[in-house]
Amino acid sequence: MRSEYQHLIDLNDYPVSWWKNVVELGEKIRNNPESYAHVCDGKVMATLFYEPSTRTQMSFQTAMIRLGGKIIGFDNPANSSVAKGETIKDTTKIVSSYADILVIRHPIAGAAKAASLTADCPVINAGDGGHLHPTQTLTDLLTLKIEKGTLSGLTIGMCGDLINGRTVHSLCKALSQFPGNKFVFISTPELRMPAYIKDIIKASGSTFEEVDTLEEAIGGLDVLYMTRIQQERFASKEDYLAQKNTYVLDRKKMLLGRKDLIVMHPLPRVDEITVEVDDDPRAMYFKQAKYGVFVRMALVMTILAEKKSSETLRGKIYGGVRCSNPRCITNHEEYLPKSFRSSGDETLLECEYCDERKLI
Ligand code: NCD
Repeated sequence: MRSEYQHLIDLNDYPVSWWKNVVELGEKIRNNPESYAHVCDGKVMATLFYEPSTRTQMSFQTAMIRLGGKIIGFDNPANSSVAKGETIKDTTKIVSSYADILVIRHPIAGAAKAASLTADCPVINAGDGGHLHPTQTLTDLLTLKIEKGTLSGLTIGMCGDLINGRTVHSLCKALSQFPGNKFVFISTPELRMPAYIKDIIKASGSTFEEVDTLEEAIGGLDVLYMTRIQQERFASKEDYLAQKNTYVLDRKKMLLGRKDLIVMHPLPRVDEITVEVDDDPRAMYFKQAKYGVFVRMALVMTILAEKKSSETLRGKIYGGVRCSNPRCITNHEEYLPKSFRSSGDETLLECEYCDERKLI
């Protein structure tokens, strides 16, 4: 199924050269933001945020305003017709007829893809449940490019809620496409990286190991990517409390890290990094959030300038087969075609919206 517009739902829908160009443009903009002040004169961006956000929403809005464009949207669906039961299909159909580009964040996996099926303008995924967050990844790539000078040959530790953290899913998928990167996943057994991400890393020729403690990993890392335990994605408060406070990066642990280590975090931070670490020159998370504006300016410019079409659904419908993930958009919005990719022998299907696997 093709759409007339170029959407960004998952970075891996595009060749690496495309994201590299966006990151390089982000770097150019950072060095000379004023010269891009009128690139989007007369254009409108709609930001539809069905889930809380500070950085992602405001950095997209800032990006559009700094490019000369204007913004509309909501950050609380309770104030829109969503509260009356309007579907994603209808909301995006209407809003995309008002705006030139639509940015959507939603608590359910696959929601941005669902929006892209009917939108009459390009759609950018600003986070879909615990699934993906491609524009945070562009921010992270720009941060690595500026602060480490490379996107290859890095040893990257990812710590915390690796099962629910959409930022680390997207980042792993992206960094595994560059040569020589190694991943160290630091989490409790309950919060390990999903199998489908580990399979992507294996298929790419990158390597990963899984460890239980920060102390055993930190000394060997070029990059430590800390994440928040995603309270809102746990089945119960008890399950969350059992994981809370497991990993806390403090000054003592930073002593074990190399001099050239950088510490990243998509933010918001809860208690996984103590405030004393903020003054360590290796703490990069506030700069990282600032770089997000430049890379989003680059992304908006690229998408609006290219005017390409994109493939939205590539898979097949297997009569009556549904995704088994209760937090997949296809189990919330009935009209969506239930489309799956097959692994070759057609007994293992992967949902095209949320990547959940299913044996049939
Ligand atoms: C992240 C997100 O929303 O996934 N934040 C962000 O976009 N900067 C991380 C988080 O909420 O923990």
